Amino acid sequence: MMKVSGLDAFYGSSHVLFDVSLEIGDGESVALLGRNGAGKSTTLKSIMGLVGSTSGTVEWRGSGIRGLRPSVIARRGVAYVPEDRRIFPDLTVEQNLRMGRSANPKGALAVEEVLEMLPLLAPLVDRPGGVLSGGEQQALAIGRALIGRPALVLLDEPSEGLAPLIVESLGQVINDLRTQQGISMLLCEQNRDFALALTDRAYVLDGGRIVYSGTTAEIRAQSGDIDRLLGV
Ligand SMILES: Nc1ncnc2c1ncn2[C@@H]1O[C@H](COP(=O)(O)OP(=O)(O)O)[C@@H](O)[C@H]1O
Ligand SMILES: [Mg+2]
Repeated sequence: MMKVSGLDAFYGSSHVLFDVSLEIGDGESVALLGRNGAGKSTTLKSIMGLVGSTSGTVEWRGSGIRGLRPSVIARRGVAYVPEDRRIFPDLTVEQNLRMGRSANPKGALAVEEVLEMLPLLAPLVDRPGGVLSGGEQQALAIGRALIGRPALVLLDEPSEGLAPLIVESLGQVINDLRTQQGISMLLCEQNRDFALALTDRAYVLDGGRIVYSGTTAEIRAQSGDIDRLLGV
């Protein structure tokens, strides 16, 4: 349903992505692995229309979306959860969730429906976003994406900065979304094991190029090479 072909991206005169091609099928969950600076965030931002200078093709459900505004891409059913989460610290959890409705004003889910998908947020609805733990903030950022009823969610390093136990419960949250809601995902991660447990296939980025792609089983079998690419 998403097909990226020959994508290049630039920040000013700095050329960051080179000929990136990847596909995400309907209901499929795909990992994008790579060390810090490999170009993972730039790939997501380029798909989402957040990088000013790109070339190549980004096809979504059969039509080209490269060059469209982020709000237009969001309204077509692609949601983006940024690396820094961008929770509004003074707004409550419920208010933070409602902010996500602007992606799909007519078709958005009710707050209660999002809480059913992310039960860990239910007891926190009236808390200010700023007092939540890192894991809770990540769940809230995901909930704010889900409220717009997306068909594809672009997740940028959800496990980053979280303690191992929290990463494990976040993994369960993401796995439930994938198995129960049928939402497609592109999951950027440096954490190989976390990402491979949650995805069907993976691509590895290095220096702005896709250097490897395969099923999660194939990637596991190559873990030595992959770890070298990930710098671990
Ligand atoms: N806003 C920016 N301006 C200039 N260079 C950037 C900007 N954002 C990222 N870069 C550079 O682009 C490359 C890829 O970065 P990024 O996509 O953030 O990688 P990753 O998410 O894999 O860590 C890096 O070399 C980084 O320094
Ligand atoms: Mg990044």
